[in-house]
Amino acid sequence: MSTEKTPVTFASSFERDIYEGLTADPKFLYSKYIYDRRGDELFQKIMELPEYYLTRAEFEILRTHRKEICQIFRGSKGFDLIELGAGDGKKTRLLLEELDKDGAAFSYIPVDISQNALHNLEAKLKAEFPTMKVLPRQGMYFEVLQQLSSYNSRKKVIMVLGSNIGNLLHPQAITFLKNIESSMNKSDMLFMGFDQKKDPQKILDAYNDPGGVTAAFNKNLLVRINRELKGDFCTEKFRHWECYDPESGTAKSFLVATEAMEVYLKKLDLRIHFKPWETIHTEISQKYDDETVTWLANQANLAITETFTSTEGSYKNYVFKKQ
Ligand code: AVI
Repeated sequence: MSTEKTPVTFASSFERDIYEGLTADPKFLYSKYIYDRRGDELFQKIMELPEYYLTRAEFEILRTHRKEICQIFRGSKGFDLIELGAGDGKKTRLLLEELDKDGAAFSYIPVDISQNALHNLEAKLKAEFPTMKVLPRQGMYFEVLQQLSSYNSRKKVIMVLGSNIGNLLHPQAITFLKNIESSMNKSDMLFMGFDQKKDPQKILDAYNDPGGVTAAFNKNLLVRINRELKGDFCTEKFRHWECYDPESGTAKSFLVATEAMEVYLKKLDLRIHFKPWETIHTEISQKYDDETVTWLANQANLAITETFTSTEGSYKNYVFKKQ
């Protein structure tokens, strides 16, 4: 057993999840907790790395096919473009520019957990597109989607970029898609990015940059636990480790303890023991092929209606409708 005391109650789901993950065997932490202010900044840096091809590949798809994509989005009475996980909106800007140029009747509804990100995005868009209807919604995807399912007067286009779905295991991805599907009407559509299976070395390199940005991003989990739960993790004693299984298409990130140690989280009064080379599993980044995306869609009563592929075929954006 690696723990000594069980706290009776947890003040937040963060506390409970960290407790459960670090007392489990094998240990794990949820990647969603990487994204505090520093985690957001590190992810921005990752997206600019030469090794992290995903962002550029999706950007290229949106740039090359923006006319056709915007044409597909249009409805006879206009539409609401709802982006889940809008972030800084760099890629979406390409589509917004095209829609604005064309005088399309639409509202852009960026959804994000970060109020700060939404604030910045709204200010930028207001300056660039003064007449555009931008209606940011702060909150968890599902809650916001539930509220938006009553937006029935005109077509909804739900957009999820960046292969964010890849951070979910298949059963969770199906639940995610089912939730989206249940908020859709027949004429609504889902536009989503999926990173594809490819040369395993290219995938490994994307999650293991020589400058150590991805390692710092992964270790930000420990930095955050130290700050928020008064922990004493020594981050230099952990190694960032990436593996990719080309059969399943799953890239997995770990933090590996380089020596035996004990870590104390004062806020949880929790002592965690590490054996040398013991692991904490922190993230999955799933890679897909058409068969897997079709299977996922089917499980959620969705059907692929269009596919847009990057030049090298390394990334795809799919349009889904209700079956
Ligand atoms: C946000 N998500 C899709 C990224 C990915 O590729 O899995 C997060 C990331 N992790 C390490 N590098 C980037």
